[in-house]
Amino acid sequence: MSLKTKIAVLGSGNGSNFTSLAEACNKDSLRAEITLVISDVKDAKILNRAKELGIPNKFINPGKFRTKLDDTAEAAYIKALKDSGAQWVALAGFMRILKGDFLRAFEQKVINIHPSLLPAFPGLEAWKQAYDYGVKVTGCTVHLVDYGIDTGRILAQGVVPVLESDTSTTLYQRIQEEEQRLYPSTLARLFNNKI
Ligand code: GRF
Repeated sequence: MSLKTKIAVLGSGNGSNFTSLAEACNKDSLRAEITLVISDVKDAKILNRAKELGIPNKFINPGKFRTKLDDTAEAAYIKALKDSGAQWVALAGFMRILKGDFLRAFEQKVINIHPSLLPAFPGLEAWKQAYDYGVKVTGCTVHLVDYGIDTGRILAQGVVPVLESDTSTTLYQRIQEEEQRLYPSTLARLFNNKI
């Protein structure tokens, strides 16, 4: 039997993707163990969800910037992640850009899920960008994180059609359902060397 891959999750908000990963770990459809959940938001729901599931979790102050970690915070994040034994870092709604030292500490081992079919609609509220543009299909993308914004190598994509009856909210709900299927299944394939 192969050993479980150790992953940590970073998130700023609701934590539905984290929960889908944790459930897949419990069911063993993803042979991985979540060693730590970190949030940059003190009262983020993702931390409560981790608590409920008995998964180690902590808030680490992100420092003085709004869109990135300051140097002290970056070092604290890296230390906590390394101390937890995490081999991979899965971003799940983490609303800060990760820079050089962090990405070098986890070279090619940081993964993100983005709510559009990249390279279309990078950045914030991608589902709304897609809806406002008038595309007929959109979806979500699991990708490696590199130095750009939502530019890293694509690992998998899930397609979601835009319905005539959709609002941007209903569209995003269906994209999130697809995310919760795609993220754990992609990590399972990745850790089995199938990608
Ligand atoms: C997801 O839609 C993900 O694609 C984006 O942030 C959102 C996080 O949602 N990066 P949740 O916190 O996992 O519910």
